[in-house]
Amino acid sequence: MVKPIDWEQLKAENEAIARQEFQGQQTVLTARPLFLQIETTNRCNFNCKICERSHHPPKPHMIDMDIVDMLEENLFPYLRDSSLQSFGEPLTDPNFDALLERMTAHRIHAGFTTNGSLMTEERLEGYVRAGVFLCLSLDGATAETYNRIRPNGNFEAIVARFAQVPRLRSLYPDSGFKLRIHFVATTQNIDDLPAMLEVGERIGADEIEALNLLTLRLPATVAHWSLEHDPLRANQRFREAQEKALTSTVTLKLPPYYDEPDTPPVDLSEARNYILWPKLTDSPSPYPNSCSDPWTLAVISANGDVRPCCVWPYSMGNLHRQSFEEIWNGPGWQKIRRRVNSRFPQRPCKECTLWSGINAGRKETVQKQLPFICRLHSIGQEVARIFRAH
Ligand SMILES: C[S@@+](CC[C@H](N)C(=O)[O-])C[C@H]1O[C@@H](n2cnc3c(N)ncnc32)[C@H](O)[C@@H]1O
Ligand code: SF4
Repeated sequence: MVKPIDWEQLKAENEAIARQEFQGQQTVLTARPLFLQIETTNRCNFNCKICERSHHPPKPHMIDMDIVDMLEENLFPYLRDSSLQSFGEPLTDPNFDALLERMTAHRIHAGFTTNGSLMTEERLEGYVRAGVFLCLSLDGATAETYNRIRPNGNFEAIVARFAQVPRLRSLYPDSGFKLRIHFVATTQNIDDLPAMLEVGERIGADEIEALNLLTLRLPATVAHWSLEHDPLRANQRFREAQEKALTSTVTLKLPPYYDEPDTPPVDLSEARNYILWPKLTDSPSPYPNSCSDPWTLAVISANGDVRPCCVWPYSMGNLHRQSFEEIWNGPGWQKIRRRVNSRFPQRPCKECTLWSGINAGRKETVQKQLPFICRLHSIGQEVARIFRAH
């Protein structure tokens, strides 16, 4: 009789090796990623104002099934979690549900973020039954606010569809299904944040996560919606929402409060839930956190490009031309591993605003507190960038 595969043991062994390699700051790894983000398609049926793909429409791609087969054979057995989207709407992909099933068969805790417009009752029930981690992007508590940001969306129809979640959950109470609302907080919708808790309760969400607007590839008019231009209002709404969350069934996750003149040094306890492994004890890095993503994560785009995390703008290689192993241990990824937790990280790492990144979500505060030599390095990098651009 063929012995059944012990998925949990395979994953635990791989994770133990990854942790050891991270602690030794090895640049060539034997461990495989613990987390994979796969963009199955970059097509989208929306044109959201905050989204870079609306302003720089990409050439449309669907992930090649040969690539999925290769990932299934080489990486799925070791994966703990997977997130199935990047830029694009996953539910526009006709192969999406089949891929999700292949992942859950490998005991991978799969999740994805959706604009919710193509959700049907049948699909929703399937996701609840399979214990998927579903993120719904809802950037307003009313149709008026929502349409300012997502003009193609029908707010009422999406909320009505997701309002079936509490009933479906009661059919599969032990499935492990989780529903999160993603709320990208900007000057256009921040006043709705406290009321989002009621929307969350209506659709049976476990949590609401408010996110900072990433401005890198947005036109100036939209980049200006960033709350760093209205920090006092942002902090006030954060406080109101936080107070309301004390008596709500929905957990609220906020980005760090915006810097005010008396902002204290970075407090890592704020980022605790997102940091996989604690800061390296013998690290020379002056940054508050040691980022472990280059040891644990890979992001695969629909065109086959592979990146080390969602912040990195550059591809480390392409799966149409190279094996995953060649890219994972290739020169680009090795360099990131060598530099990210050093005194002189590369620019995208220095600019990172993720909780799990080296700034622990507090880029502005960290920059102000860096030693002189590190700030000098930043200036040097900026000058080099300007010269390269000319
Ligand atoms: C790019 S979307 C792809 C998935 C799906 N189409 C959706 O809208 O949920 C993934 C997440 O990124 C968020 N997002 C889009 N543009 C952003 C930006 N400039 N800054 C921060 N988050 C952004 C979206 O709100 C969504 O929650
Ligand atoms: S629905 Fe998602 S991928 Fe599509 S434009 Fe909006 S944020 Fe971008």
